[in-house]
Amino acid sequence: MQNLRHYVVMAILVAIVAVLTYLGLDALELLPVAAAAQAGPIDWLFDLQVKLIAFFFALIIVPMVYSLVVFRRRKGETGDGEHIEGNTSLEVTWTFIPLVIVVILGYIGADNLAQIRRVDPQAEQIKVVGFQWGWRFEYPQGFVSNTLYLPVDKQVVLKMESSDVLHSFWVPEFRVKHDLVPGRVEDYRITPTLVGDYKVRCAEICGTSHAYMLADVKVVPQAEYDAWVSEQAVIAAAEAEAALANPDAGRGEKLYNEAGCKACHSLDGSQGVGPTWKGLWGSQVLLADGSSVLADEGYIIESIREPSAKVHQGFSPNAMPSFAYLKDGQIADLIEFIKTVK
Ligand code: CUA
Repeated sequence: MQNLRHYVVMAILVAIVAVLTYLGLDALELLPVAAAAQAGPIDWLFDLQVKLIAFFFALIIVPMVYSLVVFRRRKGETGDGEHIEGNTSLEVTWTFIPLVIVVILGYIGADNLAQIRRVDPQAEQIKVVGFQWGWRFEYPQGFVSNTLYLPVDKQVVLKMESSDVLHSFWVPEFRVKHDLVPGRVEDYRITPTLVGDYKVRCAEICGTSHAYMLADVKVVPQAEYDAWVSEQAVIAAAEAEAALANPDAGRGEKLYNEAGCKACHSLDGSQGVGPTWKGLWGSQVLLADGSSVLADEGYIIESIREPSAKVHQGFSPNAMPSFAYLKDGQIADLIEFIKTVK
C-alpha cells in the first residue's frame, strides 16, 4: 500500500511538471511566423516532439528528485540500502516502448515529408543560382533579379543550382531548408501564404562571406506580382537592346561583380578557380589539347555560353557552369570590360 502511494504521487507530479515544461517551452515562441503552407506539417510535428520532450523530461527528473528527497538517509540510519540486481521486465519495457515511439515518429516524419513535397503541376518555375556569395533569381519571362518575388497562395518550384560549392537555401519563415549541390538541379517547392518581406540566408558554410550570403524575399499579392514581372521583362528587354547597340565597360564591370564571374576570375593576374582576365583580350590561349586559340569575341562568347567547348590548359573542364542565361547585350558589355583589363 505504501509503495502504491509513492507511484500515485509521482504520477501526479510527472503530469504537472510535463504540462508546465511544455507550456514554458511553448511560451518561448521558438519559431518565427509561419509563412508557407509547408510550414503546417513541420510545425505540427515540432509541437508533437516538444510535448514528448516535456513528458520524458518530467518522467526522468521527477522520480529522481522525488527519490532523493523521500528516500534520503534519515538521522540515525546506518543500514545499507536494499541490494537490487537486474530487472529483466523493466529493461525489456524501457527498450520496447522507445522503439515503438521511434518507429511511429519515423512514419509520421515520412508522411510529413510527403505532404511538404506535394506537387502542384501548375507551379511556376523560377531558377535559383547560389554562388560565392550571393543569390540570383532567373525568371522564365527572361529577366534576372537579386530579390526573390513570389506570389502569395501559389506553389512555385525553385530550380536550384550552385555555381561553385555547396550552399543551402533557407527562409526560416518557410521552414523548408534545402541544399544546393554543384552539378545538380534541386527542386524546392514552396507555397507562400503570408504577404511580407523575408530573407533567404545560406545555411551551409561556404567560405569567408557565408554569413553575408543573404537576399530579400518578397511575397506579394498575385496582381502585384504580375505587374512586377511584366515591368521587369520590359526593362530587361530594353537594357539588352541598348547594350547590344552600345556596349559599355562600366555595365560589364557591374555584371562581373554581380553575376558571379568575380568568384573565379581575377583581374590582377592571380590564379583562381578559373583563368585570370588580366591581359586576356587578344592573347593566345593555350588549350588542354595543346592547341591554342585567339581570345576574341567568338572565343569569349563561346566560353560564357558553353564553358567546356574549349578548355583552358591547367583548368578543370567542368569547373564553370554555363552562363547561357546572359543576353547578347550583357555579354557585349562583359567583352567591353574584358578589353579594359590589361
Ligand atoms: Cu553559401 Cu554559405
